[in-house]
This record gives sequence, C-alpha cells and structure tokens, in this order.
Amino acid sequence: MKNPFYVFLILLFSIFTVLQCNKPNQPIVDDLAEIKNTVYQNNEVFLAQIDELIDLVSKDSDTGVLQKKFDDLRKTYKKMEWAVEYFLPHSARFINGPALPEIEMSEHIEIEPEGLQVLEEIFYAEEPQDKAETIRLLKKLTNKGLTIKTNFQVITVTKDQAFDALRQQVFRISSLGIAGFDTPISGKFLEEIPVTLQSLESVLHQISTEKSKNASLKKIKTEIEASNKILSQNKDKNTFDYLDFISNHLNKLSALLLDFRKEENIPFVEVTTALSKNAASFYSKEAFDVNAFVPGKEYEISSEKIKLGKQLFNDKILSNNNTRSCASCHNAEKAFTDGLEKSLSLENAKLQRNTPSLNYSAFQHGQFWDMRKDDLEGQSSDVITNKEEMHGDLKTIILKINQNKNYQIAFAKIFKTDTIEEWQLQNLLASYIRSLATFNSDFDNYMRGNKNALTAQQKKGFNLFMGKAQCAICHFVPLFNGTVPPNYKKTEQEVLGVAENASNRKLDSDLGRGKFHETVAFLQNSFKTPTLRNISKTAPYMHNGGYKKLQEVMEFYNQGGGKGFGLKVENQTLSDAKLNLSQSEIDDIIEFLNALNDK
Ligand code: HEC
Ligand code: HEC
Repeated sequence: MKNPFYVFLILLFSIFTVLQCNKPNQPIVDDLAEIKNTVYQNNEVFLAQIDELIDLVSKDSDTGVLQKKFDDLRKTYKKMEWAVEYFLPHSARFINGPALPEIEMSEHIEIEPEGLQVLEEIFYAEEPQDKAETIRLLKKLTNKGLTIKTNFQVITVTKDQAFDALRQQVFRISSLGIAGFDTPISGKFLEEIPVTLQSLESVLHQISTEKSKNASLKKIKTEIEASNKILSQNKDKNTFDYLDFISNHLNKLSALLLDFRKEENIPFVEVTTALSKNAASFYSKEAFDVNAFVPGKEYEISSEKIKLGKQLFNDKILSNNNTRSCASCHNAEKAFTDGLEKSLSLENAKLQRNTPSLNYSAFQHGQFWDMRKDDLEGQSSDVITNKEEMHGDLKTIILKINQNKNYQIAFAKIFKTDTIEEWQLQNLLASYIRSLATFNSDFDNYMRGNKNALTAQQKKGFNLFMGKAQCAICHFVPLFNGTVPPNYKKTEQEVLGVAENASNRKLDSDLGRGKFHETVAFLQNSFKTPTLRNISKTAPYMHNGGYKKLQEVMEFYNQGGGKGFGLKVENQTLSDAKLNLSQSEIDDIIEFLNALNDK
C-alpha cells in the first residue's frame, strides 16, 4: 500500500461509492429525523393529555368527561404505538400491557401492574375510584412518556427498521387489536383502529421516496379509507363482522405492505422471527418459521431430522422396558392426544394431567401445562426420564440406540458424529413435533381466499369468538394459543379457576406454574394457554381432563370461569363477568372450533 497511486485509486473509488449512495432519489436513510420528530410530537401531546387528566381527576370531574379524555389519551398512544412497541418494548409493556403484574421469573417477584389498561379499569369502574391512587398511576405514565421523549431524541431509526415496525403494527392490529386485547373493559378498540391505520399511512408516506409514483402506497391509502369506512359504520363489538374485516381488509393491507417493500427496495431486518418476513398475511402458506423457537442454530429443522424423529417417536426403544413409545399416549388420530382424562402410568395409575395435543406445541415458549421446560428439546428428556411416563434413563436409552446399526447410520448421516448423543435424540423428537403444524384447516383455507370453506354457522361462530365471547384476547389468532403476536417472544399463562370437573363445585388443586414460584401469588393455579387448533379431536379438556365436551368448557366460560361459579379464585385472570351467550351462540362457537381441524 506504499504506492501513492494505489492510495489515490482507493480514494477515488471511495468518493465514487459515496456519491453513488447520494443519488437524488436515494437519500441516505440511516436516520429518519422526520419520523422521530412525529413520534416526539405525539408524545408531547400524550404528556399534556396526562397532565390534563391529572387536573380533572383532582377536581372531581364527571365520569363521562374523564372517560372521554381517557379515550383521547389512548388514541394519542395509538398514533405512536408502532414505534414504541418496536423500539422500546420494555416501556410499551408498562404503558399498554395487560393489567396484570409482570413477573420477574428468575427472581420470583411480581412487579405492580400500571399503564393504560390499569387506568381503563379505574375510569370505567362502576364505583368511583380512589383519587390519590388514580393520580399516582397517571404520574407513573408520565414517567414512561418521559422515557419515550429521551429515547426518541437519541436513537437512530433506519428505513428497514421503520418499515419492519409498521408491518408488525399491521399484524398487531390483525391479532391483538381486532380482538380488543387492550380495551377489555371499555371495548373501544373498533374506534381506535382508524387512528392507528391513519398514523401508519402517514409514516409510510414519510419513508416513501417516490411518493407520486409509488403504486402500492396509493393502494394502501385506498384500502385504509375502505377499512375506516367500515369501522365508522359499526362500532359495536358484539355485532361487528370480524371475519370480513380481517379477510377482506387487514390481510390485504399486510399484503400491500410487502409490495411497498419491493417497490421501495427496503432490505429485511436480519433476525429470525417467528412471523416470516415474506408472509403476505398471517394466513399465507409458511407464514410461520418454526426455527424461531429452536434453542440454537444446530437445532434447526430438516426433512431428514423429521423422518428419523418420527421413527423414534413411534419406537418403544425409548422406554426402559420397551413397552411404550411416545405414540402410546400421543396418538396421531386424536391430534396426538389419548382421549383419556389422565393417561395411565406404567403401573396403571392415573397420571397427574391430561395429555396435550402436540400439533402446534412448537409455537410456545414453555412446554407442559405448567411451562416447566423452555423448549421441545428440554421437554423430551423430561418425559423419557419421568418415572411415570416412560420410566427411562436417557443414558441407558442412548446406549440402546447406539447399539442399533440402523440408528447409528441414520444419526451419523445427520449429525456427522461417531456416537449418538443425548441432545441429538432430543432434537430429532423435537424436529418431528415441529413438523406437525400444517395450517391447512378450513379456517386457514377460508382466510386464503376459498370463500366456501366455512359454513354460515362457522362464520357466526368466529365472529362470536372474536367479539362477544372474547376468546381471542387469550387464544390469539391465528395460532389460537397464548404466544403473543406479532413478535411471538412470550407465551402467556392464565388463571381460569378450572374446577375438578364440569360440575364446577371444587377448584382443582393443581398449582400449575405456581408450584415453581411459590412466592408469586399471581401464578398460583395458572396454566399455559393451549392452542385451540384441532380441539374437537382432543377431548377431554383442560389440564386435568375434567371437562368431557366442548359444551362443558363453553358453560364454564359463559358463567365467568371458576369465580363465576362462586369458587374462591382471588387471582383469576379470566374476567368473571358472564358472557351471556345463548345456547345457539355456544353451538356456533363450537361449530367454528370444528373448522380449526387440520385436514
Ligand atoms: C404415559 C403417557 C405419555 C407418554 C408415553 C409421553 N407423553 Fe408426552 N405428555 C404426556 C402428558 C400427560 C403431558 C402433560 C404433562 C404436564 O403438562 O405436566 C405430556 C406433554 C408433552 C409435551 C408438551 C406439550 C405442550 O403443549 O405442553 C410434549 C411436547 C410431549 N409430551 C412429547 C412427548 C414425547 C416426545 C414423548 C416420547 C419421548 C412423550 N411425550 C411421551 C403424556 C405422555
Ligand atoms: C383469560 C384467558 C382465556 C380466555 C379469555 C379464554 N381462554 Fe380458553 N384457555 C385458557 C387457558 C389458560 C386454558 C388452559 C386452562 C387449564 O387447563 O387449566 C384454556 C383452555 C381452553 C380449552 C381447553 C383446551 C385443551 O386443550 O384442553 C378450550 C376448548 C378453550 N380454552 C376455549 C376457549 C374459548 C372458546 C374461549 C372463549 C369463550 C376461551 N377459551 C377464552 C385461557 C383463556
């Protein structure tokens, strides 16, 4: 590099490259100051509105006035939610997370709930609430607003991130927003969606370089207008046509966003996410990437692993005395359950819990009803060594497999090692289970455009599921489990007050997740929210198999869960308000659930 000519050449080349990047139609998009400023300005309004509310509360203003001001405050948050959720997820949890304590799992401590959903309970309560407490919570919200303020002064927002955040927001609306997840009491979500959509449009406009020519942006604008028109015509959550709105509008909007990305040539943000970057909607084929749930790169799924995993799953070699395979309890015909209330141990005694379906268990951060294992790899070692289930010892089983010529060859082909190791066996079983999510139910087909795939009754059932019955605030579409969209980084547990059986007279004594966190009152008797896909094949129901039919499960929910039946469940997270579903409405929901069976 001593030759000055080379140095000159390199310099020239660098200047050329910089100039290239600065071509008029491609501004440097490293930091989108205009967008940051929009968020900043919205946040200023947010802060001012909190101050105003504090003032009104201290002056004992009318409930009606307070509710109106509170609704306005929420709408202001909705304008910047896309950015706060994406860039400051921790703050977002405390601004608009569920009105439930946050648990610091490793420390076994509860953090007090705060934010808009807690305030909603206060402003929409039937009785007047403690003034000082309301003001204290509003002031905590001010602190969160101040965090947004500081952060949006210093962070860098790039175009690919901004686009990714906007896209996630559309998926947030299509799962949480449209289910009324964050306004469970006031039910005002249908009024909030237009505000959110409008803010998305204006940010897209800001990041679009060819505003006049960009065809997809125009289409997005038209689609948002159409959506908002529908939302202005019916704001009643009990009668709104969710199925139409999701399939004909929200899914179109997410698809248009992909077109926008192409036109604008926006690169993908480089992280493996559960929701694939190429998914036009939640219901696209291959919308979900199961590799986002594996413990590391070497655990990723492959067709060879699935094949060998399937063989092992069905092989009795995995139990100590060669009497039982995984399939003994997880029967493919019954969506990998066994039809028993509780399956039988090797000594023919009843096990503690009902056998769960394995079909979509890959999409959970927490295996077993009590989530005691983080992933499927951890799960299989638990089952094999469990003295009631397989009564195996992983070391002995690995020895047995190591002595089997066919297995030796098959393992070596995949893992390229001389001897078979425990993690490999676990990974193969897990890979097979990960392959069991086929997303080809009538419901999926309907969402993919086959308008004959659902019957009229199933359509009604879906609308009740989303609206009046509020099922989707826990069983999130489209996975219908408790893994929280749109980033799928967490799986929820809930306390329903499930009883010993459908007579609903005595609370089931199983502490669930609470067993591992004895000091956390909130987690006692809590269980993972399971998927409802294939549910009609997996009777009996609940962690204890205590409910024989879906009708019994529906009666339980209709009454307001355990508390609704008068059981003492202080930490119940399911609302104890009656759903007031008629028998024909219950039938509709059950019919809809049948449409979740994979073909
Ligand atoms: C004796 C019956 C039985 C056998 C055999 C059995 N399981 Fe299970 N399985 C269960 C029960 C019961 C549970 C729920 C236990 C709990 O939650 O505490 C369960 C839970 C699971 C889960 C967690 C699913 C979820 O959504 O939480 C997975 C995965 C699983 N089993 C896979 C396997 C594999 C792989 C094998 C073979 C190595 C196997 N099981 C063998 C009965 C069995
Ligand atoms: C507050 C959150 C929440 C709401 C709301 C909710 N569920 Fe659940 N659901 C759960 C949890 C958690 C479980 C597992 C509880 C257990 O086993 O103890 C569950 C279990 C079920 C089961 C049994 C699953 C199985 O594999 O055995 C069905 C069926 C079900 N829910 C349907 C519904 C329907 C229909 C609605 C609306 C009427 C609804 N859920 C509303 C959280 C919820």
